Amino acid sequence: MKALIYKKYGNPTEVFRLENVKKPVPKPHDVLVRVYATTVNRTDEGLVTARYVVSRIFTGLFTPKKWIPGTDFAGQIEAVGPEVTSFKVGDRVFGFDDEILSSHAEYLTLSENGTILHMPIGSSYEQAAASCEGAHYAYNFIKKVDVKNGQKVLVNGATGAIGSAAVQLLHYLRAEVVAVANTKNLELVKKLGAVQVMDYTQNDFTITEEKYDFIFDAVGKSSFSKCKRLLNPKGIYISSELGWMASNIFHAMVTPLFRGKKVIFPIPVDIKKSLSFIKKLIEEGKFEAVIDRTYPLEKIIEAYKYVQTGQKTGNVVINMVTVMDKP
Ligand SMILES: NC(=O)c1ccc[n+]([C@@H]2O[C@H](COP(=O)([O-])OP(=O)(O)OC[C@H]3O[C@@H](n4cnc5c(N)ncnc54)[C@H](OP(=O)(O)O)[C@@H]3O)[C@@H](O)[C@H]2O)c1
Repeated sequence: MKALIYKKYGNPTEVFRLENVKKPVPKPHDVLVRVYATTVNRTDEGLVTARYVVSRIFTGLFTPKKWIPGTDFAGQIEAVGPEVTSFKVGDRVFGFDDEILSSHAEYLTLSENGTILHMPIGSSYEQAAASCEGAHYAYNFIKKVDVKNGQKVLVNGATGAIGSAAVQLLHYLRAEVVAVANTKNLELVKKLGAVQVMDYTQNDFTITEEKYDFIFDAVGKSSFSKCKRLLNPKGIYISSELGWMASNIFHAMVTPLFRGKKVIFPIPVDIKKSLSFIKKLIEEGKFEAVIDRTYPLEKIIEAYKYVQTGQKTGNVVINMVTVMDKP
């Protein structure tokens, strides 16, 4: 099978090779999935470059333990181990795991008890794959706080994979969403559910007299110190990035000791729970992943280069389906 391979951490353009490798064989509790769509996301890019040294604790201290990257997939089950009871050959499935599923390949194996679910009814493979990583993080960030009907929430970076999912989830919870985005995407974020938009290329969103119950910085470009003034007396600030000198971790430890404005730095957990929730929303027509570009597997290194710009709108999908094997 064709797979993207890397044997050392570094810049994707230098460390990646597209190679032919042996197709994996499922163990007794595993399923073999023919991958039809996957994404290149900021988690993949962060793990391959090992930008945050701490990620090496999970992926390998000096060199990567798993040579094939990729954290999400949508595809079809081609074979099952003899002990598998929850899935059968032909099932359409999707999943995500930030501890790496090696989904940047034509096939992968994973345990039937892993983070794999039946696909949302009516969803395409591209849509299902694009509904995992950003949506999982957005769901976890939002679940950490109790967002109520009518509360005012500002989402900075509303056009990333996390931000575009967050706007939709907050809209679903009936929050009043104010989204910060680039000029070219103001209409998009309105469609996702924002009642008000701010163009970050024209204005600094922190220069305002507006007050918010929550500020979600889904792109990690702001700071608590700049946003504090914008929060209501019990307002909460959440960022997807550690912040300068890991200041968001520091504030998340210190601010809860006092009454008033707080910082929360959620550690995303329980992927199966978030994906089940997103699946339900997709089936109800209340969530649709934003897809920026689609690349074939042969162009996956180009896709990594694009993701590295930090300018993707929503998700970047790798479509593995050729005309020959279209299901
Ligand atoms: N904490 C976690 O567990 C976790 C997990 C995964 C990712 N992350 C981090 O979360 C961040 C977001 O990742 P992502 O995949 O959703 O998106 P992304 O690829 O980082 O894209 C960011 C989006 O934000 C917009 N943007 C860029 N600069 C901006 C600014 N100054 N103000 C407002 N919007 C701006 C971009 O729009 P333009 O087109 O205008 O540039 C783009 O659409 C990344 O920094 C990533 O490292 C954290």
